[in-house]
This record gives sequence, C-alpha cells and structure tokens, in this order.
Amino acid sequence: MTPSLRVRELRVAYDDRVVIDGLDLDIPPGKITAIVGANACGKSTLLRTMARLLTPKAGGVYLDGRSIQDLPTRQVAQRLGILPQSPVAPEGMTVADLVGRGRAPHQSWWRQWSTSDEGAVASALAATGLTDLADRPVDELSGGQRQRAWIAMAVAQGTPVLLLDEPTTYLDLAHQIDVLDLVVDLNRAEGRTVVMVLHDLPQACRYADHLIAMKAGRVVASGEPASVITEDLVEEVFDVRCRVSPDPVSGTPMVIPISRHHPAPAHQA
Ligand SMILES: Nc1ncnc2c1ncn2[C@@H]1O[C@H](COP(=O)(O)OP(=O)(O)OP(=O)(O)O)[C@@H](O)[C@H]1O
Ligand SMILES: [Mg+2]
Repeated sequence: MTPSLRVRELRVAYDDRVVIDGLDLDIPPGKITAIVGANACGKSTLLRTMARLLTPKAGGVYLDGRSIQDLPTRQVAQRLGILPQSPVAPEGMTVADLVGRGRAPHQSWWRQWSTSDEGAVASALAATGLTDLADRPVDELSGGQRQRAWIAMAVAQGTPVLLLDEPTTYLDLAHQIDVLDLVVDLNRAEGRTVVMVLHDLPQACRYADHLIAMKAGRVVASGEPASVITEDLVEEVFDVRCRVSPDPVSGTPMVIPISRHHPAPAHQA
C-alpha cells in the first residue's frame, strides 16, 4: 500500500532561527511531487524533517496518520528513503558498498544479506548506469557519477516513498533526463511516491504531477504544474520576470526568464 504523507502546522528551527513556520502539506500518494523555491527558502529543511533527520519544534509529519516521531527508526527507513543534498560517503567506500547500505533497513540478526538484496543492488546499479563502476571508491568518482551512486542507494532501499533533494545536481543533460525518467519508471511501474526538490522549472513541470512552490518557509502555491507556474508566481517566488510558454515537446509550462541583458521584446513588455 502506498502510504499517505502529511505535514501539519510544522515549525522547524536551527537553534532559535525559525526556518519553517506553520507549514501544511499533503503529498499525493503514488504521484510525483516537485518542490521549487529560491535558495535558502527551506526546501532541504522540509525534506530532512519529512525524513525524520530533523525534529520539528512544533507540528509534525504523519505517515499513514501516525507521527513519524512515534515510529521506530527501522519502520521509517523501510518506508521512506531520502537522497540528501550534497551527501558525503565514508572515505574509500565503493559504489557497491554504498548502494548496499540502502538495504540495511531490510536486514536484521535473523535476516542477513540475501539474494534479494543482491538483486536490488544490481538493478539499482544498472538503472543508474553504474554497473561498470561498482568496485570504484565513491570519493574517486566525478560529481555526476557520485550523485548517481547516491541515487542508486536510495533506489536500492526500495521504499514506497522516495525523497530526493536536487537529484539532478552535477548531472549532464543526458544523465539528468535518465535520472528523471528513472524516477517516472519507479513511480509508474512500482507506484512509488516521489517528492523531489528541483531548480529547473521546465523540468519540474515536465516530470511532476504535483508542484509545490515555497517562499521563506511557506507554501505559496501548490497543484498541477500548469496552474502553479504563472509569470506572477515566478516573479513572487524568485523575483525574476519571465514569460511562460508551452514546452514545444511536452506542452507543459516552460519558463523563459527576462533579464537586464535579455529584455522582453517591446510589444510584449
Ligand atoms: N544546519 C544548519 N544550521 C543552521 N542553519 C541552517 C542549517 N541548514 C540550513 N540552515 C539555514 O536554514 C535556511 C533554509 O536552508 P535550506 O537548506 O532548507 O534551504 P534550501 O531551500 O534547501 O536552499 P538551496 O536551494 O540553497 O538548497 C537557510 O537560511 C540556511 O542558512
Ligand atoms: Mg537545499
């Protein structure tokens, strides 16, 4: 069953500095949700709180109606996987070992490493194009290869909910598309719920069923990408004027920024 994920009256602070205050969210189960917003608006803080890596000051995150603070760590890890922003692997750890760590929540003293773990690691490596790099230390990979190794780990974890913080960072265009298409495969074939932070608005509109726009720790708009991404919303959230035009390939909104050196043509200004 696809778990439901809700956030209610959430307040998160680092010491005394409140970053998120009074935030409510419903993540549509079995769908792909993208979170967009300016740097420092609280996207990673929200994702990390949803994965129970941070403890809220007030309010909470509810998985199937139960506060994740009350769930055993193992149960959270079996149901919720996270790719953090800029993760760091232990020195010398190989790609295969890192991806294998994703299987830890499925093991216990009575259930050791098994062929199903082996299979999950092999298919995650294949899906991310890393089979040939399995024995290489993660700290010797390129930025894009390393990012894919972390994605493979989150995939191997096999959780029904996947939280991905900027999964396409460091990736060239081909690998960005590969990773986002993989996310769609995981969603469509296995019904996994995906929540991902993306900075590329046209890509977010292409790949997400549901879009959440954040500003200063609040949700400014949420819904279908085509209803959320308007010229006014982009200006409000990013302080950038733009034109929104249908993507010629997908028909979803494409954001074309206007800047000092690239003003809008006079008749459109
Ligand atoms: N560990 C921390 N300790 C103190 N303050 C933090 C910490 N992590 C983040 N912050 C602060 O919280 C605010 C929100 O940060 P967060 O990382 O959630 O932003 P973000 O929306 O993910 O930004 P970006 O797009 O740059 O990744 C920022 O002002 C940041 O400086
Ligand atoms: Mg972030």
